Amino acid sequence: MFMFSALRENVRVLTACLGLGLLVPAACIAAESPQLGQSVSAAEIAAIDFTIMPDGTGLPAGSGTAKQGAALYQQHCQACHGDKGVDGINDRLAGGHGTLSSEQPIKTVGSYWPYATTVFDFIRRAMPYATPGSLSDDEVYALTAYLLYVNDVVAEQAVLDAASLPKVEMPNRDGFVWATVVE
Ligand code: HEC
Repeated sequence: MFMFSALRENVRVLTACLGLGLLVPAACIAAESPQLGQSVSAAEIAAIDFTIMPDGTGLPAGSGTAKQGAALYQQHCQACHGDKGVDGINDRLAGGHGTLSSEQPIKTVGSYWPYATTVFDFIRRAMPYATPGSLSDDEVYALTAYLLYVNDVVAEQAVLDAASLPKVEMPNRDGFVWATVVE
């Protein structure tokens, strides 16, 4: 009786054990648990819980300028996004200001994105395309500063950090409407 109820608990083990014939080894009776509900470590959560909100909540320590970002951009980004964010093989990152309501809107970080803080978030989480997560927070601040600089949003020597980045006003900040959830 015991043997059969134990086997019923785990179809996978049952199948494996039946394959062995009528003599059922002890290992098959002590059926494995399905290993559901393992707890997640704080380090595992920290590795994916790094969202930065529009108001800058979640921005890490560190800082960078467009000047520092220029060299990093050339090394890590230019091959795909082009010189100063234009004419690359992938998304255009600069220019297009004032085109959004035209016949041919050009959406870039400068013309379209409403918040500078989320530029940091996006680069840190997703770029460089092939090796996301490989840049330090200082490097991401510098690259954010560089992209804002080539979009005429910040000065070349502006130091961006957790305090100054949320204060940067993007040109299209007021070009979005908040959706109201109707219950
Ligand atoms: C191998 C090519 C490649 C490299 C290198 C690369 N990117 Fe990208 N990038 C892409 C692609 C492809 C997308 C579009 C991704 C998507 O839409 O999901 C993108 C999107 C972006 C966007 C969002 C553009 C928008 O308006 O939606 C930003 C910002 C960006 N990349 C910044 C960078 C920065 C900064 C670097 C260097 C650290 C970099 N990328 C390196 C391929 C690349």
